[in-house]
Amino acid sequence: MTSLKFPKHFIWGTATSAYQIEGAPNVNGKGVSIWDTFSHKPGRVANNENGDVAVDHYHRYKDDVKLIADLGIRTYRFSLAWTRILPDGTGKVNSKGLAFYDRLVDELLKYNIEPYACLFHWDLPQPLQDKGGWPNRDTAYAFADYARIVSDHFTDRVKVIFTHNEPWNAAIMGYVTGQYAPGIKNPIAGIKALHHLLLSHGLAAEAIRASAKQSIKIGITLNLSPMYPASKDEKDIAAARRFDIGNRATLDPLLKGTTPLQELAIGKVLTSSLIKAGDLEKIRNLDILGINYYLRMVIKHDSKIPIFNASQVFPHDSEYSTMWEIYPEGMYELLMRIWKDYLSPHSASSPNRGGTKGDGQRPELMVTENGVPVPDGLDFDGRVRDERRIRYLQDHIAQVHRAIQDGVPVKGYFHWSLMDNFEWALGYGPRFGLVYVDYKTLKRTVKDSGRWFANVIRQNGLKF
Ligand code: FCB
Repeated sequence: MTSLKFPKHFIWGTATSAYQIEGAPNVNGKGVSIWDTFSHKPGRVANNENGDVAVDHYHRYKDDVKLIADLGIRTYRFSLAWTRILPDGTGKVNSKGLAFYDRLVDELLKYNIEPYACLFHWDLPQPLQDKGGWPNRDTAYAFADYARIVSDHFTDRVKVIFTHNEPWNAAIMGYVTGQYAPGIKNPIAGIKALHHLLLSHGLAAEAIRASAKQSIKIGITLNLSPMYPASKDEKDIAAARRFDIGNRATLDPLLKGTTPLQELAIGKVLTSSLIKAGDLEKIRNLDILGINYYLRMVIKHDSKIPIFNASQVFPHDSEYSTMWEIYPEGMYELLMRIWKDYLSPHSASSPNRGGTKGDGQRPELMVTENGVPVPDGLDFDGRVRDERRIRYLQDHIAQVHRAIQDGVPVKGYFHWSLMDNFEWALGYGPRFGLVYVDYKTLKRTVKDSGRWFANVIRQNGLKF
């Protein structure tokens, strides 16, 4: 039997996001977000589903917090809907929106669950999209104002604020491939969106530090995928390196104060006008680097694909979920790479401007999302036997442990997600939860994986 113990004070958590769980899109003064708009356009989401009800967390938050507590989870990462707090994105604050998150935060604290509040998980206010959205630099300043309002109101109780969830995905899926809201297909808009998302992180970090009521940690969550060449052919190796710009486009600005965008022909044209003096310096302001790991990418040279001249291949001998290849070693390799290239004292990057006192400490590293979609269902006795998720989690958590053993100070691991929810363009098909949700009755049932994860937390480790 293998027994893996995690360091004392290792943070075990779970994550959700506002649009994916809350529902209640028109309740108590909430404004319209780009996901409200997008999901109502025919053909954008599988089966034309939308988040109008989602899992009705807005009304059932007390039950959901009790579930978190019952599972023994002591840290909860959730997002605030910008449009509940500022229905138009800027201007008038909606006190009823703040009041909802007051109730949520207070309920979490009642059970000693530490809130990790994320300001933006893709639900941009529609009025800001109407003025150009993230490709418009003004949106970054609007975001900083929103961050200040949240900081003013919540930092008496909330000590960890994440600015963004996966800015690369928000920019690329939202503005280049158009698979996510606002559904735009324009590479130039995508590059602009990415820069302004990152800039808004820096501006928000400044605003939060200036207004926080106590010492606060500021984080960001990135979706990163280790890249592998499809063969030993030099062309494939070069193609994988080019695709790695997808990782470096967020890591380099946040941790080194540089950008790799000039390496792309299209980026060179843009960056001189897009990145203004001082921007990169502002972006490098961080206490917690959160990484979301779901997949690796195997890349081959492909001249048919514009900009990157590279495309993804899917190894035939791998295991797959309904969405991605399953590759647990990628977790280890990613954590090692980030540590070596960006965070260790020997890495090329200089200390960050962040640190709770602005004292130049290097950011902490944690896994803020990892999980797998499994076609779960209730068995005859009402149990959900999601063995495949348990195996997935065991394999991935073991790789986090391996990285810690090899010297990477990983501080925490958050499972995506607390409960089944609205999976963006795929609607309610993929189920990621530790808790099963019957979408007709909205009844919650803890899955076998939920009990398994509770046990991992209790033991602060794994036995298998
Ligand atoms: C991540 C998102 C999260 C969820 C998981 C499956 O990219 O941050 O909202 O959809 O994927």
